Amino acid sequence: MERILVTGGGGFIGSHMARYLYQQGNFVRVADIKFDDYIQEEYCNEKLQLDLRKLENCLEATRGIDKVYNFAANMGGIGFITSVFADVMHDNVLINTYMLEASVQNKVKRFLFSSSACVYPNFKQIKPEVEGLKEEDVYPADPNEAYGWEKLFTEEMVKAYQIDRGLDARIPRYHNIYGPEGTYRGGKEKAPAALCRKVAEASNPGTIEIWGDGKATRSYCYIDDCIRGTVALMESDYGKPLNIGSDRLVSVDDLADIIIKISGKKITKTHNLSAPEGVRGRNADLTLVKKVLGWEPHISLEEGLEKDYRWINMMVEKER
Ligand SMILES: NC(=O)c1ccc[n+]([C@@H]2O[C@H](COP(=O)([O-])OP(=O)(O)OC[C@H]3O[C@@H](n4cnc5c(N)ncnc54)[C@H](O)[C@@H]3O)[C@@H](O)[C@H]2O)c1
Repeated sequence: MERILVTGGGGFIGSHMARYLYQQGNFVRVADIKFDDYIQEEYCNEKLQLDLRKLENCLEATRGIDKVYNFAANMGGIGFITSVFADVMHDNVLINTYMLEASVQNKVKRFLFSSSACVYPNFKQIKPEVEGLKEEDVYPADPNEAYGWEKLFTEEMVKAYQIDRGLDARIPRYHNIYGPEGTYRGGKEKAPAALCRKVAEASNPGTIEIWGDGKATRSYCYIDDCIRGTVALMESDYGKPLNIGSDRLVSVDDLADIIIKISGKKITKTHNLSAPEGVRGRNADLTLVKKVLGWEPHISLEEGLEKDYRWINMMVEKER
């Protein structure tokens, strides 16, 4: 049994990770500024409501802890990260700086920083038909928005702590993780959850609005695959950034069509060309992660979206 801290444990990836680690028999402490409480069953031993932009709170959270999964971040989907720059950089630089410092001061044995595909350069993502992004593609740097710059800066800060302070760290770069029990409304939701909600709320027959022209592409990784890959990385001896995602590229229109089919509704799509859509195309190259961890995602987009849609539809029904 290990003593594990999951920050951002009130949010999407953090609460799934906490539940997995708790079910494995570990002592799990979660820390978050707020708790969504979408997970109904008991999923941790201790729940601390803390603002991790403060060093003293990071010290409290990491006291007596062996391993830290640091998921706390002020982030959201494309609508949020393209409209809130200063808060994203300010809050996340503080959270990550103090979480690293507190982890070293409290002699944490291993630290995981949740990075993002947003660190990759814009100039490699300018058309829908893109090559998968390899870990080494990150430089020369030209990350996407303030959020991507903060993630890249923190990757460098983690490296500095590895070299100067002997911190044992792991750095997954997540590519569009989706699944049930995550944010699905309020402005911080991402494309899969937003589309599931729009379809769930639509009448039958009905219409939904797609942001952009629907031709931008992404790859999506189901939360259970993400948790499996992240734990494998944490347990490995690999200290450099590593992609955790899928290499199945689909357009936003394709994504919406899969969800519409799952719903069984007759829905037409309209396109809002003035809404933000982010980079034109982004895919993950999984060559390195397969080699290093022997990991790749197993859950198909159709299977994962079915679970995500059923959960969001249930939440929408409950709200009604
Ligand atoms: N979900 C994805 O597709 C994805 C992709 C790339 C990277 N990531 C990274 O993975 C991590 C988890 O993402 P998620 O999708 O679970 O997001 P999320 O928003 O569901 O979880 C983040 C949690 O951090 C908490 N938080 C924010 N400010 C805080 C503060 N000052 N103190 C304490 N807690 C605070 C939030 O309340 C939230 O519960 C983040 O670092 C994110 O940048 C996620």
